[in-house]
Amino acid sequence: MSLKFTRRKLATLLSGAGASLAFHGAASSPAHAESEARSAASFPKGFLWGSATASYQTEGAVRDGGRGPSIWDTFSHTNGKVAHGDTGDIADDFFHRYQSDISLMKQMGLKGFRFSVSWSRIQPTGRGQANQAGLDFYKKLADALLAAGIEPFCTLYHWDLPQALQDQRGWENPDTAAAFADYAGLVAGALSDRVRQFMTMNEIRSFVELGYGNGMHAPGLQVGPRRLAQLNHYAVLGHGMAVQSIRALAKKGTEVGIADNVDAVCPVIADETNIAAARSAMREENASFLSVILDGRYSEHYLSRLGADAPHFTEQELKVIASPMDFVGLNIYQPRWVKAADTPTGYEKLKDPASYPHMLSPWLTFGPEALYWAPRLVHENWRVGKLFITENGASSADVVSEDGQVYDTDRTMYLRNYLHALQRTVAEGTPVRGYFVWSLLDNFEWADGYEKRFGITYVDFPTQKRIPKLSAKFFESVVKQNRVM
Ligand code: FCB
Repeated sequence: MSLKFTRRKLATLLSGAGASLAFHGAASSPAHAESEARSAASFPKGFLWGSATASYQTEGAVRDGGRGPSIWDTFSHTNGKVAHGDTGDIADDFFHRYQSDISLMKQMGLKGFRFSVSWSRIQPTGRGQANQAGLDFYKKLADALLAAGIEPFCTLYHWDLPQALQDQRGWENPDTAAAFADYAGLVAGALSDRVRQFMTMNEIRSFVELGYGNGMHAPGLQVGPRRLAQLNHYAVLGHGMAVQSIRALAKKGTEVGIADNVDAVCPVIADETNIAAARSAMREENASFLSVILDGRYSEHYLSRLGADAPHFTEQELKVIASPMDFVGLNIYQPRWVKAADTPTGYEKLKDPASYPHMLSPWLTFGPEALYWAPRLVHENWRVGKLFITENGASSADVVSEDGQVYDTDRTMYLRNYLHALQRTVAEGTPVRGYFVWSLLDNFEWADGYEKRFGITYVDFPTQKRIPKLSAKFFESVVKQNRVM
C-alpha cells in the first residue's frame, strides 16, 4: 500500500489537535464516525492525564540556590559509571525553564504533573534546617502549575540521596529512614498549602537493587544479599515513617501515596488457573516492596527464600511500614509473563525468548497487557481504593527529520496499545484515576545518560530547544478526546 502523504504534508496535518482531528475526520464517513463513537475506548470523565519527571533527571542547576551534592552528582562524575560520561549538571535546565515547560503541558491539555523534590536542595546535608531557596523553588513551581490549571503531584525521593547521608552508609543506616521522614514532613508542611498529593518514594526496588545490589546506579555498591535485605527493610520503613510525618505536618486533606514499580506479572493465558497464579505472583514477586507495605508482613516464601539473609525487623516496624495510604501509584513499563505451575508458590516466571520485541532500552520489552493486568491484580489483591499510573512510556531512537519534526512512530504505537489496555481495565472497574506519561521531556536517563530518550518532547541538549514529537501530538489528541482510538 502506498501512502500519498509526504512527511512535510503529514507534519502540517499533525501540527495541532484540530488538524489531527481533521485528518481523522476526513477519512470517516458519517456512519463510520457514529459506529466509531459507539466503540470509543473512552476514559471516565475527570480522568487525570499528566506527565512525569524527576529532579536529577531534569533540573540541572546543581550548584544553584544552595543545593548540596547528591549521590547522583558523585556517581555521574565518577569515570565509567554513566554512558558517555554524561551528568545531570545541566540536564533539561528545568530549574530555569519550568515556566515554558509548563506551557508545553498546558498546550497538550495536561491536568497533572508529577515532579520530584531534590532532597539536597532542601537540606544540603540531608539533615537540619530547611534551605529557604530550595523550598522557594518548589513553591514557585507549584504556583506556576496551579496557575496553568495543572495539579502538582510531588515525589519526595526519586533516588538523589544527599551525599552526606551516603557518607554515613546511606540506606544501610536506619538513621537515614528517620532523616527521610523528617525531610518528608518538612517539605509536606511547607508545600501542602498548594500541593495536595505527595508520594514518599519512587521505585524502592530500583534504588535498592540497582544502587546497592548490582551497583549499576548510585551509590554503585554491591553489598551482598544479607545487607541488601536489611537496607531494603530500612527503605520500606523510611516510607512508612514518612507517611506518618506527612500526616502529622501537612495540611488536612493532603493525600499520601507511593510510586512503585511492581513487577507487572501477566498470565500467559487468561484462564482462571493462570489468572489465580498471576495474582499470587503479584504478591510474591513484590514481597519486600508493595506487598509488605500493603500487607504489613513479609510473606513466608520471602523469608524462607532468604533464610539466614532475611532482614531483622520488629512487629512495631511492620506496623509503621503498613501506615495507611490514600492512593498507590504504579510505574508500569514491561510485562512479566507467568504461568500456573506445580511449585511451592503455584506459579512460574517465563523467560522471554531472544526474539521478544523491545523498545530502544533492552530491558523495556513490549507488552501492553502489563497496563491491564498490573492495576487489576493489585486491586484484586489489596482492594486499593485509588490507583494512578505514575509512569509509563518508552525509549526510542528519535531523530529530527529534515522538516524539523520527530516521527517517533514506535513510541506512539507503544503508547496507543498500552493505553488501550489501561482503558479496558478502567472500564472493567479497576479504580485507576489518572495516568502520567514518562516523560514530558527527554532527560538524563540514569546510567544510560542522554542516549536513551523517553520524552514525548524532544530536547536538543546543546541549545535546550524543545520539539514536541509525534507522540506528544498523539497524547494531546487522547487527552483532549479523553479516549484512545
Ligand atoms: C523508571 C524511573 C524513571 C525513568 C524511567 C525510564 O524506572 O523511575 O526515573 O528512568 O524508569
